[in-house]
Amino acid sequence: MAKKRSTGVHRIGVLTGGGDCPGLNAVIRAVTKTAILDYGIEVVGIHDGFAGMVEDSMGPLRYDAVSGILTQGGTILGTSNRANPFRYAREEAKGRVTFTDRSDEAIRRCRERGLDALVCIGGDGTLSIAAQFHQKGLAVVGVPKTIDNDLSGTDVTFGFDTAVSIATEAIDRIHTTAMSHHRVMVVEVMGRYAGWLALHAGIAGGGDVILIPEIPYEIDVVCDFVQARSGRGKRFSILVVAEGAKAKGGDLVVQRLVKTSHDPIRLGGVGQAVASQIEEKTGVETRVTVLGHIQRGGSPTARDRILATRFGHCAMELVARGRFGTMAALKGDEVKGIPLEEAVRQQRNVPPDCPLIATARSVGTCFGDRLGR
Ligand code: F6P
Repeated sequence: MAKKRSTGVHRIGVLTGGGDCPGLNAVIRAVTKTAILDYGIEVVGIHDGFAGMVEDSMGPLRYDAVSGILTQGGTILGTSNRANPFRYAREEAKGRVTFTDRSDEAIRRCRERGLDALVCIGGDGTLSIAAQFHQKGLAVVGVPKTIDNDLSGTDVTFGFDTAVSIATEAIDRIHTTAMSHHRVMVVEVMGRYAGWLALHAGIAGGGDVILIPEIPYEIDVVCDFVQARSGRGKRFSILVVAEGAKAKGGDLVVQRLVKTSHDPIRLGGVGQAVASQIEEKTGVETRVTVLGHIQRGGSPTARDRILATRFGHCAMELVARGRFGTMAALKGDEVKGIPLEEAVRQQRNVPPDCPLIATARSVGTCFGDRLGR
């Protein structure tokens, strides 16, 4: 088959940054296969996100290396959510961390390796760094990933569908044990500062109460709701709580600070806080399950495999057409390039008028702000 003509690009680098996410390998595979099959372009895999650029840890990514990885979770390239070349962290004695700008060094490494362009697969942190490199003259194209689905610019990110499926299956399983023991069961899900994951999994799993960051909750409302259900003979309740949920007038519950990370805050613990208060106020035995990284691990769903493949293919097309400083994005049915800045401009939260919230309320779901039906 005749090769398409490339726009002077002979070799590209690919990296995955930030937290891992189901579908990363599917993107790497699509970028690499499109580069090799359609354009005869060589691909170099950069290891552990931007750390590989600074530390010059990279190697050829041949066709065989990406063959068979479509269904695999994680990333064959490794990742890092701590390595920002513009603020490169070094941990010194007694936990002291110093930061230096090593972006020029990282660019020099790419040039020495003969990389004409870079495909950066990541969330807001990775894509912001990619945008900064683009401003410094590197030819960069982005691919949006995150299970949180909180990136503006694209209708949806890959990884989200898988995380929703995993959380939904967990809620289904919690349901049967909750019913058997007449307990309140709290399921804490990820999502950072956005409630997409809790909202979707909560609806799919038939959660009775869904708490999301965008709708601050009142614990008394939640307790009244649980008791009203008991009064109707429903002696159990399922609460799906986003890790970023907070009480009206209250604060986020922070689990730890990772000083070297782009966003040092790691959320976690709100599920336990809500559960303790429910048990204390209602006297009903209340248990907590924190799903954690299970939501990010393992094989992507069919939908995520397809989206990741479309994103990877689109990213390579953008490279071949010289459309740098862009990112592959899903808009309606179409995957196309949009300016990188658009993706990182602001976080995408669940809007107050989200039709899914209205739908959930119509089937009696309580969001902790007012009693459901
Ligand atoms: O952004 C993806 C995500 O899994 C969030 O949902 C979560 O808050 C965070 O990453 C956890 O990060 P880490 O793996 O560094 O603990």
